[in-house]
Amino acid sequence: MKENGKETYTAVVLAAGKGSRMKSRVKKQFMKLMGRPLIFYPLRAFQESTVDEIILVTEKDSISYCREKIVKRYGFTKVSHIVSGGKERYESVYEALKRANSDYILIQDGARAFLNDDIIIRAMEAVKKYKACVIGMPVKDTIKIVDKDHYAIETPDRSTLWQMQTPQCFVTEEIREAYKKMMEAQEQNVTDDAMVMEKYGERRIKLIEGSYKNIKITTPEDMLIGKAFMKMRRFKHKLFKK
Ligand code: CTP
Ligand code: MG
Repeated sequence: MKENGKETYTAVVLAAGKGSRMKSRVKKQFMKLMGRPLIFYPLRAFQESTVDEIILVTEKDSISYCREKIVKRYGFTKVSHIVSGGKERYESVYEALKRANSDYILIQDGARAFLNDDIIIRAMEAVKKYKACVIGMPVKDTIKIVDKDHYAIETPDRSTLWQMQTPQCFVTEEIREAYKKMMEAQEQNVTDDAMVMEKYGERRIKLIEGSYKNIKITTPEDMLIGKAFMKMRRFKHKLFKK
């Protein structure tokens, strides 16, 4: 809490992954999209938002690159820490949680370049109200549960299914406690932060609509889609400036 009684927010940008599904020479979080490294985009979105600090998590060997070529170069003054991540996503999150110093935390995949101001505002308002929320969207495809040989065994009702995006947002102290318990239990099948809160915390998770454009760049074709979205965004900017 600030002196003026305002609540404080930390954004965590995760960029410590291997990017193995991208199969690229340069790690996907540093691949260029319209001339800028992928993680430039979520960092810029948070820099221009009202969050108070940004914690960037990356691999040990990339810390100085991130400091010089991204944080300093683009003037991301809200970045308070650049920390070394872990082998799995949840280990990277845990490293950031140790440093976060705020009332609320927004945990963001660095590979989601299309985070925008609207989504950040919705996320910040919702976490204040619900104390635990995740940005997501209703799924468009029918989803099947399959067995180990890929035979369909069940078709869940699509209207009850949402795909998770980021940011995933919590009361900082609560998610830190939940993560601590999870680490002590040596749980390993963790693919998002909401799972940790569901299993080791006390809060129910409220889902908040993000956007179908808020994709995670994962495989090579996502870069093509990403380029198309970026071009569209620039075109719109030009239109509105006229
Ligand atoms: N991430 C991280 N630390 C890890 C693993 C992932 O900070 N140990 C980050 C990634 O850099 C990415 C986000 O978490 O921004 C979402 O993960 P994902 O899309 O799976 O990225 P990677 O793990 O890098 O890719 P892959 O699974 O294809 O190897
Ligand atoms: Mg991964």
